Amino acid sequence: MGDNNTNRDRRQLLKGAVALAAGPLVASVVTGCTAAKRAAPSAAGATAAGGAAKAGEQSLTDRRRLGSLEVSSVGLGVQNMHRTYQTTVPYRPEMLNIIRTAFDRGVTFFDCAEAYGPHENERILGEAVASFRDKVVICSKFGWNIDQETGERRPGLISRPDHIKRVVEGMLTRLCTDRIDLLYQHRVDPQVPIEDVAGAIKDLKAQGKVLHWGLSEMGLQTLRRAHAELPVTAVQSEYSMLWRGPEQEVIPVCAELGIGFVPWSPLGVQFLTGAIDENTRFADGDIRKVEGRFAPENLPHNVALIRLVKTWAERKNTMPARIALAWLLAQKPWIVPIPGTTQMAHMLDNIGAAEIVFSDGELQELNAALVGITIKGERLPPAVMAFSGVEAPLK
Ligand SMILES: NC(=O)c1ccc[n+]([C@@H]2O[C@H](COP(=O)([O-])OP(=O)(O)OC[C@H]3O[C@@H](n4cnc5c(N)ncnc54)[C@H](OP(=O)(O)O)[C@@H]3O)[C@@H](O)[C@H]2O)c1
Repeated sequence: MGDNNTNRDRRQLLKGAVALAAGPLVASVVTGCTAAKRAAPSAAGATAAGGAAKAGEQSLTDRRRLGSLEVSSVGLGVQNMHRTYQTTVPYRPEMLNIIRTAFDRGVTFFDCAEAYGPHENERILGEAVASFRDKVVICSKFGWNIDQETGERRPGLISRPDHIKRVVEGMLTRLCTDRIDLLYQHRVDPQVPIEDVAGAIKDLKAQGKVLHWGLSEMGLQTLRRAHAELPVTAVQSEYSMLWRGPEQEVIPVCAELGIGFVPWSPLGVQFLTGAIDENTRFADGDIRKVEGRFAPENLPHNVALIRLVKTWAERKNTMPARIALAWLLAQKPWIVPIPGTTQMAHMLDNIGAAEIVFSDGELQELNAALVGITIKGERLPPAVMAFSGVEAPLK
């Protein structure tokens, strides 16, 4: 009985794990790639990134390198564009508009995954960028066990080479493209040696279907083995003022190996924007409801971090989200955050982070204050955390 309950709880949490990256299955409205390419080149008719921003409008011209890949210094995560954390379904035409406007304003780095939707967010991104696809960097991720025909989520992970290749074919169709610029393994498959995964990526690279690869939330030895097999362009892990775990080992290994770093949930899943306080409670189905750091008993303590971010926002005459992103940008020149949003105004706020510069003294002061704040509660429930830091089996 107890075990049944435990198993049921675990299944719920595992569903939540994929929900981190996805929303409920909804019949998709697929606009053909040809139709998408005929659509407005971008929201404002730009033909080059940043080309359509008018004088005085917020735009982003800074570029950064992730390995050999050049991207805008702030990207855009599209995970919530099919279903938000609050479980609402955003208005699809506006999501297309946000992606196209982001491109107009200089964003060239778009983050997606097979698991988002599943599949549906790739369709949204593919449709949005179809007419300027060659000017942007499209990222997606494989690895969760998702039925390729129906998009149904199944338990566990699959990184078998034949499966990766099949997934990529589907991605290319959904993304309206002939290549994926940066393809990540979403989570390490404990059944598949990373050398075999690298082998599949090598084959896909030889066919021109994948240009660069990366890993997400992997174990460190797996990262080293992967990089030795086929140079890794970027690592994606949760990193923000709210969760600084990667500073211990992941970021130093990236520095050593020359691998770029892409922080996911750079706004602390909304926490660092100032929208959450000690009274905030989360809806059923919102992953944050089962994250210890947002539990009612921990929020009153943890809001000290929000107060700090707000103080700095006032001091720098900007908004909290920009402080959170600018702090990430200040850590390393090869860090590129991918804030997620479903609101035009927020996307415009976020790209403005590139303009916020901390002096060395300010950064020292801010970091010293951050060290004084301990976040109570785990970042993810144990059943979800179990997928992070996993080492692939030896070949
Ligand atoms: N590799 C992985 O396993 C993994 C896991 C999770 C996420 N990701 C990637 O990381 C991306 C970003 O992560 P995320 O979306 O989870 O978290 P996030 O970027 O830390 O935060 C997103 C939340 O902040 C809000 N927000 C965004 N900009 C704002 C602003 N300027 N002012 C106020 N609120 C703002 C958004 O709400 P609104 O929609 O209302 O703006 C949303 O609720 C995802 O889209 C996905 O591509 C990867």
